[in-house]
Amino acid sequence: MCGIVGYIGEQQAYPVLIKGLHRLEYRGYDSAGIALINPEGTLSVNKAKGKVAALEALCADKDITGTIGIAHTRWATHGEPNTTNAHPHYSQSKNLALVHNGIIENYKSLRAEMENHGLSFCSDTDTEVLVQLVEYMQVSHECDLYTAVQLALKNVVGAYAIAILDRRNPDQIICARKGSPLIIGIGKDENGKAEFFLGSDATPIIEYTDKVVYLQDEEIAIMDRIGRMDITNLANVKQTPQIHTLQMNLDQLEKGGFPHFMLKEIWEQPNALRTCIRGRLNVVEKDVLLSGIIDHKERFINANRIIICACGTSWHSALIGKYFIEEATQIPVEVEYASEFRYRNPVIHSDDVVIAVSQSGETADTLAAIQLAKSHGAFCYGICNVIGSSIARATDSGTYLHVGPEIGVASTKAFTGQVITLALLGLAIAKEKKTLDEQMFHMLVDELQQIPDKMQWTLEHNKHIDQFAQIFTYAKNFIYLGRGYNYPVALEGALKLKEISYIHAEGYPAAEMKHGPIALIDEEMPVVVIAPKRGIYEKVVSNIQEVKSRKGKIISVVTEGDTTVKEMSDYCFEIPDTRDCFVPLLAVIPLQLLSYYVAVAKGRNVDQPRNLAKSVTVE
Ligand code: M6R
Repeated sequence: MCGIVGYIGEQQAYPVLIKGLHRLEYRGYDSAGIALINPEGTLSVNKAKGKVAALEALCADKDITGTIGIAHTRWATHGEPNTTNAHPHYSQSKNLALVHNGIIENYKSLRAEMENHGLSFCSDTDTEVLVQLVEYMQVSHECDLYTAVQLALKNVVGAYAIAILDRRNPDQIICARKGSPLIIGIGKDENGKAEFFLGSDATPIIEYTDKVVYLQDEEIAIMDRIGRMDITNLANVKQTPQIHTLQMNLDQLEKGGFPHFMLKEIWEQPNALRTCIRGRLNVVEKDVLLSGIIDHKERFINANRIIICACGTSWHSALIGKYFIEEATQIPVEVEYASEFRYRNPVIHSDDVVIAVSQSGETADTLAAIQLAKSHGAFCYGICNVIGSSIARATDSGTYLHVGPEIGVASTKAFTGQVITLALLGLAIAKEKKTLDEQMFHMLVDELQQIPDKMQWTLEHNKHIDQFAQIFTYAKNFIYLGRGYNYPVALEGALKLKEISYIHAEGYPAAEMKHGPIALIDEEMPVVVIAPKRGIYEKVVSNIQEVKSRKGKIISVVTEGDTTVKEMSDYCFEIPDTRDCFVPLLAVIPLQLLSYYVAVAKGRNVDQPRNLAKSVTVE
């Protein structure tokens, strides 16, 4: 939630910061702001409600010179989204400006304390409390900014990633983190002069440098104009930064001719999955190799239970993973909403394997679930997309999706990447435990290899969905039905539709219909049914019949060539045949396209739906 950008060097900071904000806009977009110290030593703060474009318009006639600056794009937590609550926030004297991502839980008591000391506040935010606290420490302890930041952070409870400027020291940015991500890019400009970049993730940095340091929890960094970077922790112990090389390129952050990132990412799926399985699936030797489990085979073989923790779309892929891993390995698998798991005193044994599934690797609840599991001695495994993310670093081992950056707020390629990675994990464990007979194992390996091509076919075959999406813009509600492996697909289809088109949608196991939801069916209700000619096909056909006899509109996803369900349907999308367990990888494609085109037809901002942000780093 919220995006932070920073720059110090010899270049003009404004263009770097604005471009960075655009790249981070997917993290929050209700207001944006920028602080710069100009060559005369003035610390200016400009803020605007709305998107980064509004900030640019505001800055068009302002002094935007300066080679040091910080900027922020916000997803409101404390205080409504308006200009006053937008970041950066000034301190009382206006000598300091600070941007913040996270939540300061004890901000009310801190604010009351400072108000008692005569300080006044102009916003409703926890962030203003933080910058005032830093200045209060600076003045009361007569110390430098770094010490003041350290003292202030020792007094706060909560999560933060911050960057702070001091008007009186235009050669230095100080930043810190706890529980919210912050990355420092180390670069050299075209004249070979040192420069530093800051970002909530790597997207605002990659254009300038691929050398980065991931700031760790409770670390504070000082970056100065002559290329010095000092990192210490809250206990004042000097840290040795580890420099990582980013594996990302700029093209991955552009729309590449597509009108939206979401559509680009939907179409990227076949190639993304090819990259995901490359080197992991060996069809010649009929083998699965996951480096993340090589050194931990015993933990998986001896696991009494696997618990998968996730949120949102990742929770849906986890549910598919549960069905597959249980079937393939005979290990019981539980799937938990991370936000529930972390607070409900769950029973966790030291021989449990706890898997976190998260695209961003930064979801606060999923991270907290992992920390809880670790404290109980469980072995923790991360399935993340973002390399170097907090969950990837907090887990004992793991597997990256390698599907490339996902920018659209609605998750698409990360979902299929997670499903296929969980399938690889299930196969890798099954191989060690010998729970699948050889013939079945080989068949699954062969079939998995063919999925990217079948996905390509599905995309080409269903491009026409745009031509009739308009028909459904009238609908106030949708129902999605599926059984077995396709029940989570129904949940995912419904989530995609509601988050980007704002049409209410619910996913159900098809047979649950008659226990209540069937009362909702009338001639107005579109019912999307995933009905491949696999598994309990006949049962699903009966469920369709139940809807039809109540005049519901049937939109079906069927196996290519199936005429039975096609004839019962008002609209029908075909997918190629594949094994039951891999159907979700194909069936979700028409549902992604349907939600995308319905949202476009309704004039929604598909990549930046209201109230949402890509990564939820607050609870
Ligand atoms: O980064 P994560 O996978 O941990 O994110 C979890 C959810 O916030 C995320 O999947 C969310 O539900 C998406 N907007 C769904 O499209």
